[in-house]
Amino acid sequence: MMVQKQHFKPKSVLIMASGNGSNFEAIVKYFRAKGFQDKVKFELLCDKKGAPVLDRAKTLGIPAFCIEFEKFYDFLAARKGEYDLYVLAGFMRVLPEKILEISSNGVFCANSLANIINIHPSLLPEFKGKNAIARAFEAGAKETGVTVHFVQKEVDLGYIIARQPLKTEGLGLSALENEIHKIEHSIYPETIEKLLFKKNVLVFGGGAREHAIASVISSSPFLKRLYLANPNDGFKNLGETINFSDYLDLLQKSIEKRVDILVVGPENPLCEGIADVFEKGGIKVIGANKDWARLEGSKSFAKKFMQRNDIKTADYKLAFDEKSLECALEYFANSKTLAPPVIKADGLALGKGVFVPNDFSEAKKNAKEFLDGKFGAASEKILLEERLFGKEVSIISLWDGKTLVSFPPASDYKKLLEDDKGPNTGGMGAVAPSEITLKQKNEIEEYLKTLEAALVREKADFCGVIYSGLILTDDGPKVLEYNMRFGDPECQALLELLDVSRGVDLLDIFIKMTEKKLKKSDLKIADKKAYCLVLASDGYPSNPKKGAEIKNLDAAKEYGCKTYFAGVKTSQGSLTVSGGRVLSIVKSGEDTREFVYKTAESIKFDGKIYRKDIGKK
Ligand code: GRF
Repeated sequence: MMVQKQHFKPKSVLIMASGNGSNFEAIVKYFRAKGFQDKVKFELLCDKKGAPVLDRAKTLGIPAFCIEFEKFYDFLAARKGEYDLYVLAGFMRVLPEKILEISSNGVFCANSLANIINIHPSLLPEFKGKNAIARAFEAGAKETGVTVHFVQKEVDLGYIIARQPLKTEGLGLSALENEIHKIEHSIYPETIEKLLFKKNVLVFGGGAREHAIASVISSSPFLKRLYLANPNDGFKNLGETINFSDYLDLLQKSIEKRVDILVVGPENPLCEGIADVFEKGGIKVIGANKDWARLEGSKSFAKKFMQRNDIKTADYKLAFDEKSLECALEYFANSKTLAPPVIKADGLALGKGVFVPNDFSEAKKNAKEFLDGKFGAASEKILLEERLFGKEVSIISLWDGKTLVSFPPASDYKKLLEDDKGPNTGGMGAVAPSEITLKQKNEIEEYLKTLEAALVREKADFCGVIYSGLILTDDGPKVLEYNMRFGDPECQALLELLDVSRGVDLLDIFIKMTEKKLKKSDLKIADKKAYCLVLASDGYPSNPKKGAEIKNLDAAKEYGCKTYFAGVKTSQGSLTVSGGRVLSIVKSGEDTREFVYKTAESIKFDGKIYRKDIGKK
C-alpha cells in the first residue's frame, strides 16, 4: 500500500537571544544538516545592539530584528499566529504575561501560558537563575545538567520537556561549561524538532490499560492528535475514534489521518498480525509483530525460546490427547518434587488459562477439561508445568530492536478474592515497585541481561513491550510466562512511576523506540509507590452483572486518584457497567493506599466488588 505524501507548510520559529548565540547557531545548523531549509524557517529577535548572536545571524543568513525590549510586545502582537514556536536561547529577560499570552496560539504547552521554550544549564529546579554552571560547580554538585522547559511567569520554572544529567566528577569549571554546552547544542535542537513535528498517535484497545496509555500520551507536548481504535465510552473523549472493519481498513484510515505511530494495548491484535499490517503500510508500531507475538500466543514457542537461550523456566511436558497427557502426568509423578504439575493452555485465554491443582487427580481432571475445549482452540494443546514456589513479579520491558529497558518489578493480584483465593481473573489490582530483596533485585537484573542478549542474538526485529512473568525461587528467578504487551493492571500503576519532573515522557520514549534510539537512561523512575485497585462487577470472572449506573466518580479527584475505565458504556447519558472489570483506581505517592480505598468506597454501583488487600503489608 502506498503511503500518501505529506505536504508541509514550513514551520516558523522565532529565536529570542541577546548574548553569545552558540545555541542559536547550533539550532540553525542542526536543521540545515538535516536538509530542512525549506521545512523550518528561523528569525532572530534581539534586544542588545552589538550582541555576538547578531553576527552569527548575519553569517548564517537568518533574518534578525534588533529592537528595544519595551517594543517587543508590539513586534510580537503584530506577528501573532505567525510562529509555530518561540525559543529563548540566552535571552536574559523575564517575559511579561501579555507576551506569554500572545505566543500561546492554542498550542498545548503543559499548563504554561506560553508556547515559548527555554534552555537552562542545570537540572531544574536546582540552580535556577544566573551563573547556574558556576554555582553548581562551587556547590560541589556531583551531578548537574541541562533542562529544556516551557516558560512561565516565574524564572526558570515550567513544565519540563527534556532534561539531561551530567556527572561532574573530574571536571574543572571550564571543562564542565564545555560539556554542558555540548549537551545544550544537541538536546535543544532535538527538542525543537519534536515540538515542531508533533506526532499523530493511534491507541488500540478499550481497557483500563489503554485508557491509562491514552491519557498519559494525551498530555505529551509531542502529541499532535490522538486517535483511538475500539476505546470504551469512559475514555473516548480523549481523542477521535477511528471505526474500522479490519486491520487493513484501519490502516487505510490511519494513513488518511496521517497517523505516525500505532500503540497496541491488547495481545489479540498482535497475535493476529496488526503490527505487520501497519509496518507494511509505513506506520510505526509499538507492539510485537506476529512472529514475536508468539512468545505470548504460544506457550510452547516461548518455552523453546527460553531453552535456546538458557533462560531459566519451569520444566514442562506438552499434551494434546489422552496418551500424551498420561505420559506427561507420569513424568511429573516420578519427578523429584512429586508435586502435581500446573496446567496451562498453550494459546491465548485472556490470562485465565492456568490451573494450579492440589493433587494429581485434580490435575488430570482439569487437563482433560482444557483438552476438551474449555478455552476453545487455545487449549487444544496444553502444557503441564513443574510447580514453582516463590514471589511472583511482572517485569515490563520496552524493546526497540536493539536495547531492552525495563520498569521496576510490579506485583499483580490475579485471584478474585483476598489472600489469593478464588478463581484467576484478568487482575484485581497491582502495586509497583514490588517489595523485593537486594539479592532478588540483582538476580532480576541478571535475568534481564540474559533476555536482552537473547533478543539481540535472535535478531528480534520488532519494537514493543515484553512482559516477563517471573517467579523468584530460591534458585533465582524463573520465567512463568511472556506477554507481549503492558500488563493490565500493572500498566496503570507503572505509568505513575514515570518521572515527569525529570522530563520523562511516554510518547517521547515511544518515538525513540520507533527510531531505534532507546537508551537505558530514558526510563527514569520516580522514587515512590503506585497502587492500582480494580473495581469489578459481581459474578466476575464467569458471569459479571451488567447495566448498573456508576455514581460518584468525582470522589476520585477529591482523594487525588485517577480512574481508568474498562467495562463501561454510556447508556441514557450515564456511565454504566458493561463488563467484569469495571474500572481501575490509581494513585502514587503519599497516603496512596488509604486514598485509593476511600475512592473505592465512595464510587457506587450495584454489584461493586473489590479486593481489600491490594498492597497490604
Ligand atoms: C546557555 O547556557 C543557556 O542554557 C542559557 O543561556 C546560555 C546561552 O548561551 N539560557 P549561548 O548564548 O547560546 O551561547
